[in-house]
Amino acid sequence: MVADRPRTKILLDGGDPDETLRVQTHLELLDGQTTNPTYIAKNPEMQTKLAAGRKLSTQEQLEEYRRIVQQISPLVGDAGVSIEVFADYSTTAEEMLQQGEEMFSWIPNAYIKYPCLPAGLRAAQMSVRRGIRVNITLCFSQEQAAAVYAATLGAADPVYVSPFVGRLDDRGQNGMDLVWNIKKMYAHGDGHVHVLAASLRRLDHLLCAFSIGTELATAPAKLLEQWADAGLPQPDAGFSYQAVDSSGRQLQPIPYKDIDLNRRWESYDLRHDLTAQGIERFVSDYQSTLRPAA
Ligand code: E4P
Repeated sequence: MVADRPRTKILLDGGDPDETLRVQTHLELLDGQTTNPTYIAKNPEMQTKLAAGRKLSTQEQLEEYRRIVQQISPLVGDAGVSIEVFADYSTTAEEMLQQGEEMFSWIPNAYIKYPCLPAGLRAAQMSVRRGIRVNITLCFSQEQAAAVYAATLGAADPVYVSPFVGRLDDRGQNGMDLVWNIKKMYAHGDGHVHVLAASLRRLDHLLCAFSIGTELATAPAKLLEQWADAGLPQPDAGFSYQAVDSSGRQLQPIPYKDIDLNRRWESYDLRHDLTAQGIERFVSDYQSTLRPAA
C-alpha cells in the first residue's frame, strides 16, 4: 500500500478485468472502477466475438456485462464498481430501476449509473430509497448537479455525481471549472453527494481534481499508468491549473452560479446538449454489440 496517497479515491475508467488487474498491480491503490456501454463494447472478449461475426442478444449482452463486472469487483477497493443501465430517451424511470435492481445484485460493491435525465433522476430517487447505491453520469452543468443533490436527499450511502471534464474541454470550455463550481455549491449542502471527476484526459486534470479535493476521480488506464510512472505526484501548494486545450488554446471559463440546493429536484433545468450526445453515443456503442431482434 502506498503511504502518501491522495485523499481523492482513484477509480479506473474501463471495461476489461485484465486491465484492472494490471493497473491495480502497478498502482496498488485502485479504489474502484467505472464502466460504461462504450467500455463494455470495447472489452477484448466482446471484440473477439464481434470480429468473428457473433453479435449478442440483449440477454447475452447483459450476461457478458455481469461476467465482466464480477471479475472486476474483487480487484478494487471500497469505491466500488459503477455499472451503467441501458437508457435512451424513451427509457422510463421504472425500466431503469428494474435494470438497476438486477445489476445491483451482481456484486457486493455495485454503484448503479443512471444518466442525468429526468427519468434517470427519478430512478435514482427510487433507488436510494431502496438502498441501491447510485452514480449519476453525464453531468455537464451545475444545475444538473443541484438536481442530483435534491433528488437523492436522505440516501444512506454516498451518492456519486460524475461531471465530465474532457468533453467540456473538447468544445473549448474549462471542464475543471464545472467540478470546482459543483464542489463550491455542495459546500452549502449536507455532504451526501460525492463528486467523481470523470472524462479526465491528462495528468493535469487528475492533479487539479486532487487540488480541488473531489472525493473521487476516474481515469483511463493510460493516464493512471502515466501518473504511476511519474511517481504518483500530488499537487503542491503552488499548483496552478493551466486551463488550455491540447493545442495550447485558452479554455473558456464556466462561471459559478448561486443555486439554492433546497428546491424540488424537478424544478432544476436538466437540459444539456452534451448529455443528449452522450446518451446517443452510449446507445450506439451498446447497439453495436447486438444482433438485430428477430
Ligand atoms: C465516467 O464514468 C465515464 O465512463 C468516462 O469518464 C467518460 O469519459 P470519456 O469522455 O473519455 O468517454
